[in-house]
Amino acid sequence: MHCNIILVTLVALLVSSTHSLPQYHTGEHSPREAAPLARALVKTAGIAELSTLADESVVAGLGGFPFSTPEYITDSCPPSGEPLVYLVVWGTHARNLNILPHASLSIRSTNFTNPPPTSRSPLDEARVTLIGTLSRITNDTQIHNAKKCFEQKHKEGFGIFPHRGAFWRMSVKKVRWIGGFGDRHFNGWISRDLYLGEGNGAGSAASKDAVDSVRKQWR
Ligand SMILES: *[C@@H]1O[C@H](CO)[C@@H](O)[C@H](O)[C@H]1NC(C)=O
Ligand SMILES: *[C@@H]1O[C@H](CO)[C@@H](O)[C@H](O)[C@H]1NC(C)=O
Repeated sequence: MHCNIILVTLVALLVSSTHSLPQYHTGEHSPREAAPLARALVKTAGIAELSTLADESVVAGLGGFPFSTPEYITDSCPPSGEPLVYLVVWGTHARNLNILPHASLSIRSTNFTNPPPTSRSPLDEARVTLIGTLSRITNDTQIHNAKKCFEQKHKEGFGIFPHRGAFWRMSVKKVRWIGGFGDRHFNGWISRDLYLGEGNGAGSAASKDAVDSVRKQWR
């Protein structure tokens, strides 16, 4: 009998504590809603974590292992959704990419904050990973234009970067969005077409209107 009372009390406590958890309906909930936010986040970033796959001939003993470092990027030259990356010519990434062009760029930016509800922890904030292939830009006119534009976007000190580098363009294959904790945000894959705003007519996924219209629905 006593046992039953204790059991009933425990169950009641469990049920009431489950019910007292706040229920949120805010945030983005689909790849379509996440796409403009992902574009906006990438646009604010000047640095991304680049991962390439180490080749055995480049780093002995690490063939096939992922290798990741922060690198200069911009999505403003031009703002196409496919960022430009600057890499030291004979660096580990460039040598890996000459063998296998597969890469990912992982981006979180203090320049991008989700509107209220305010973030509850650093991992309750948005981040995005672009996965695709990187190709080196070799056309002289395009190198000249990329350099001029990149310097404009990186006024904080890229101009004094002391190593000889080259520009690479990412061709995006798929995008992984993590908007924050899953109770309020979409965590999942965004297709290339959605991310680049292709097949959406003139309304690019990157437009401020697209971002505003997603956020207007947040409560
Ligand atoms: C934030 O934006 C500034 C100005 O565009 C840029 O220089 C900086 O690298 C950005 N910060 C990050 C963490 O990407
Ligand atoms: C180099 O790029 C420019 C600008 O995109 C283009 O007009 C030109 O045809 C390209 N040259 C070669 C050799 O591909």
